Formats: sequence, structure tokens, C-alpha cells
Amino acid sequence: MGIQITPSILNADFADLGAEVARIGSADWVHVDVMDNHFVPNLTFGPAMVEALARSTDVPLDAHLMIDDPDRNALAYVEAGCGSVTFHVEAAKAPVRLAREIRSHGARASMALKPATPVEPYEDLLPELDMLLLMTVEPGFGGQKFLDLVLPKIRRARALMDRHGVETWLQVDGGVSLETIERCAEAGADVFVAGSAVYSADDPDRMIGELRARAEAVVGGS
Ligand code: DX5
Ligand code: ZN
Repeated sequence: MGIQITPSILNADFADLGAEVARIGSADWVHVDVMDNHFVPNLTFGPAMVEALARSTDVPLDAHLMIDDPDRNALAYVEAGCGSVTFHVEAAKAPVRLAREIRSHGARASMALKPATPVEPYEDLLPELDMLLLMTVEPGFGGQKFLDLVLPKIRRARALMDRHGVETWLQVDGGVSLETIERCAEAGADVFVAGSAVYSADDPDRMIGELRARAEAVVGGS
């Protein structure tokens, strides 16, 4: 699949999301950070708002659910029109069942790990997942500093995927910018969330192109 750039709208103007999404037409996905003020100390969108956003753009939505009880709440985001739905393993009671439900309802199933959550216990789940998200900040807010301590985990996750021969995408989220994207690509990530880097740029679409070029240069333009 190659390198994919998925801008987060967390740092966009919430009063004008339709126009904000129109500024990132070259994005592979729009990353939508759903926060419930329980799993993380911040509150953003619910399914109704995500459904309205899905209707406003042709770019597919990549929902990142930072919510308690995704087992009960994740399917609402598939039904809202998201092409990919990510739940946190720290919040899921039955991650295998949940991933299968998301897939069976027609979306890509993805699982997220916070920075301190090890990847090794989930090795056998990889074939159940279309994407693994490794957080490179503690979830909850945009604009935080990239955590280099996650880089070895990215490398280990890529090695596990290679060993299992799976097609699972490896996404990184948090503090990804022109300064940090090469480190992530070198470690083996192929899907890059960037929030403040994209929306603080004068031309967000151009920033997407610059981020993509940096990552592609690392992996040889594949
Ligand atoms: C943080 C969110 C991220 C955030 C990324 O909890 O999951 O998607 O928006 O923003 P930046 O790129 O500014 O770290
Ligand atoms: Zn996110």
C-alpha cells in the first residue's frame, strides 16, 4: 500500500469542519479523534457529528476511538460511515470479538496501544487487524511532543508483522511532523497521523505532500 498520510482534525476549526476537511484533499484518510472525557481527559465528537463529516467529504474517515467501552460503542462509528475504526486495547473487553464485528460490518478494524502498552502480548491478534496504531504521545491532546521511546516498539511491531506475513498497516499518531516522520518511517511505520503539523501550516495540503515525500524518501519511494 505504501506510505499514507492521515491528518487529524483535532487541531482544525471545529466551527467549520466541512471547510477544514476541504483543505486536505490529498489526504489518504481524515483522522477523527473521538474522545469521551473518561478514557482520556478531553471531549470531542460523537457518531452524529462523524456522520455529518462523512457526508461532507470524499476522503474516507479513520476514526480513533479514545473511549471507554468500545465493545458497545464502536459499531456506531462504522454505521456513521467510517472506513476504518480504531479501538484502544486498554479499553476493550473482548478485542478479538470487537475487531471481527467491525470487519463484518464493512470497515477496517484497527487496535491502538498507548505508549506504555507492550505489543508482544498481542502478536497472535495481528491477523485479526487491518491496522495497528502505536501512540507516540499519551492520547488526549494534539500538539504534544513526540515520544522517541516508542521507536523500538515500532521496530518490534514491524518485525512481528513480517514474521507473521500479515498485511496489517502500522500507524503512528502523536507529534508526527517534518522533524519526526523519518524516524517513524525508518522504524517501520507506514500510516502517519499528523494534526498540528498539518493544520498549523499555511497550506495544509502542501504539508501533506512534504510529509509524504519525507517518508517515501526513507522507504525508497514505494
Ligand atoms: C492525540 C490524538 C492525535 C492528535 C495528533 O490523542 O490521537 O490524533 O490529534 O495531533 P498532533 O499531530 O498535533 O500530535
Ligand atoms: Zn488520534
